[in-house]
Amino acid sequence: MQQTLPPGIERVLVTAEEIADANRRMAEAIARDYAGRSLVLIGVLKGALFVTADLARALAEVPGGPTDVQLDFIAVSSYGNAHRSSGEVRLTQDTTHAIEGRHVLIVEDIVDNGHTLHYLRAMLGNRQPASLRVAVLLDKPYHRAVDVPIDYVGLTCPDEFVVGYGLDYQERYRTLPYLAKLRPEVLPA
Ligand code: IMP
Ligand code: MG
Repeated sequence: MQQTLPPGIERVLVTAEEIADANRRMAEAIARDYAGRSLVLIGVLKGALFVTADLARALAEVPGGPTDVQLDFIAVSSYGNAHRSSGEVRLTQDTTHAIEGRHVLIVEDIVDNGHTLHYLRAMLGNRQPASLRVAVLLDKPYHRAVDVPIDYVGLTCPDEFVVGYGLDYQERYRTLPYLAKLRPEVLPA
């Protein structure tokens, strides 16, 4: 069926169904690994808003997973140009609960150069959680500047700037239910 795409969008890269499948696969692996434990998911705002919500609900549907799942959020901002983060990551909103002694899983939308997750792993790791892992919906492995371990990956992302499902370009396109490629003329050269 022909779908009308919003202005600025070139094509759909990952459909809503494919995103849901990726979340279910991650949830199954996470459920196995944290079976019988209490888990805190920390979503990284704003990009990981939807993946955190959907992953948490997918996790609740897997039998025999964690005893309970709590949600918290942090927000970061990074300098750099409009479509790539720099090494300068700054925390703009902290979690509401302490994580000392807790099993913590950071949930991120996408890892590109790795600076954001590197910063978050170091910062949250300093707070003595019982364990600290990372789940990322999209891995973009082409421009990694720092090597950061990723424990759960939903999908490998093509080497494109993607928007939708939480991901934005200048705060636009976050609410699209799919992941899409922007028209190149929208991005700065
Ligand atoms: P990193 O610090 O380069 O690993 O990138 C992580 C952050 O950069 C993500 O949380 C996004 O906010 C942003 N980012 C990287 N690639 C994309 C993209 O293709 N679309 C939208 N945001 C992106
Ligand atoms: Mg993000």
